[in-house]
Amino acid sequence: MDYSQLMKIFATRQLPDAMFTTLENEGVTVNQWEEKRELTKEEFIANAKDAEGLFIMGGFKITAEIIEVLPSLKVISLMSVGYDNVDIKAATMRGISVGHTPDVLSKATADTAFLLMLATSRKAFYHHKRIGNGDWKFFEPMVNVGIDIHNKTLGIFGLGNIGFEMARLCKAAYSMDIIYHNRSNNEKAEKELGAKKVSFDELLEQSDIISVHANLTPETKEVFNTSAFAKMKPNAIFVNAGRGGIHNETDLLTALENETIWGAGLDVTNPEPMNKNNPLLDMPNVSVLPHIGSAVKETREAMLDLATKNIVAGLKGDKLPACVNPDVYNK
Ligand code: DGY
Repeated sequence: MDYSQLMKIFATRQLPDAMFTTLENEGVTVNQWEEKRELTKEEFIANAKDAEGLFIMGGFKITAEIIEVLPSLKVISLMSVGYDNVDIKAATMRGISVGHTPDVLSKATADTAFLLMLATSRKAFYHHKRIGNGDWKFFEPMVNVGIDIHNKTLGIFGLGNIGFEMARLCKAAYSMDIIYHNRSNNEKAEKELGAKKVSFDELLEQSDIISVHANLTPETKEVFNTSAFAKMKPNAIFVNAGRGGIHNETDLLTALENETIWGAGLDVTNPEPMNKNNPLLDMPNVSVLPHIGSAVKETREAMLDLATKNIVAGLKGDKLPACVNPDVYNK
């Protein structure tokens, strides 16, 4: 094989063998990061310097500075729906297409939000830990009881495909009323689920459960802060399966300690990874997962498959099946 003819990509994690073979068959050679730790910026640049494509798994930040020093780069393929870790403007300016993996992960991610809502409402993670600590001794009727979530109001912050799936689950399982806060109207959710668009303040004031599914942008950064938590109901549960940067974690801890809100279920934290000594981990009415929203075998395979299709299309100069910055084609 003439390796000089192959298209080069750098992958930030080890790819499954099947993807490796698919890429090789497409004339792609893969340099992949095999160490079990996040790489530094310098290591990234050293590994990616000749790459025409980047296969990004995990939240490594692709800044304008990095884009500038990778002269051969044509395409960035993310194995995620979120793309807040990439400077999209800088990529578009350089004519680099950015691909992501929407839709294929919506159901799995909504399941994680649903799991966190229910687990939090019943203090499930705490009770599990309690047994391990030898603290299952005798029945106490009103100690560490949960709260009922039937017929409550679910407020979705960011009603895209994942938010829709969460709303659909909550409506079907618990007959919840659905309200949402979004830039645009979601007609499908309004028609099929009777969802109602409200202002941010109305979302805070009326929801019994708030579930965050928005993208992290300058507008959504830490909008869930002391002032927002103060407007929520004292029995409210805050769920975040979007991006940790959308909530201020110190403010969230204070709101829980002061009983301004009732509980929280987090699949994403601010920062990530969460420190093992974070006091949130010891609170009975808090459930935390290590950003595993889409972590189902079938879903991860579908994400890898779409991310592979995106990178191959970008390397060949074709339109990506799932492109974040279609403006790049007008350049
Ligand atoms: C996504 O797909 O954006 C998940 O949150 C993983 O980062």
